[in-house]
Amino acid sequence: MTHWAYRIRLAQPEDAEAYVAAHVTSQIATYAHLMPPEHADPRQAEAAIAAAELAVDLATMHDDLAAGREPFRRHWGAAAPPRGGNPGARTTPGGGSSVAAGPRGILGIACAGAGQNWWEANFDPPPVDVPYMLDRLYLRPQAQGSGVGQALFEAAVGDRSAYLWIIANNPRAERFYVRNGFSPDGAAGPAGGPWLGRPMFRMVRRT
Ligand SMILES: CC(C)(COP(=O)(O)OP(=O)(O)OC[C@H]1O[C@@H](n2cnc3c(N)ncnc32)[C@H](O)[C@@H]1OP(=O)(O)O)[C@@H](O)C(=O)NCCC(=O)NCCS
Repeated sequence: MTHWAYRIRLAQPEDAEAYVAAHVTSQIATYAHLMPPEHADPRQAEAAIAAAELAVDLATMHDDLAAGREPFRRHWGAAAPPRGGNPGARTTPGGGSSVAAGPRGILGIACAGAGQNWWEANFDPPPVDVPYMLDRLYLRPQAQGSGVGQALFEAAVGDRSAYLWIIANNPRAERFYVRNGFSPDGAAGPAGGPWLGRPMFRMVRRT
């Protein structure tokens, strides 16, 4: 297994472009077996807009935290440290290295917080005793299986009770969540927007 050098940290506004690049790259790779090929292009085309919007959200998140308020969502990145001027250098036993992960070395992202997204109003409400939602957990393909996913999960959820929504037919993610104590709670339905009605379901963990 490749041993990645990385640090999990709250995302900064200046990370927005690299965060979105990692998120979109992971989404396109993850759902290629479920989505039509033309699904990818708009995701790429929207990346600049998504990054601009995210930069505002990240600034608000830090303002909230500085003011002692709990932000609606916290965002984390697994950042690979620059190495010899080459960000995101991959380390392999024996010291070899090559650039592998984006301009600011974001290997993966996570987003979580208490409170529902607007679109959840279309589904059965989440359990009242489990308000905390894991909203995003996405690794660049080359970082999967490296432990970065578990580390991001620990930062975003830790030992809390939590829930999440998962697009059906994503066995790796489902296995990861089951391993972390989640199970389907019966809520399910078509995913809207760019997901073209693909089936998704909710998983819940109580700790
Ligand atoms: C979900 C994710 C964060 C998990 O992190 P990871 O580093 O891949 O986690 P692991 O390597 O421990 O893999 C999880 C499990 O899936 C298993 N697995 C690996 N490849 C698999 C595959 N193709 N099919 C089914 N299971 C698979 C692993 O063996 C592991 O099982 P284990 O519990 O027996 O160890 C990561 O895979 C990812 O970012 N995937 C793409 C984006 C995504 O799907 N996000 C979630 C959206 S809801």
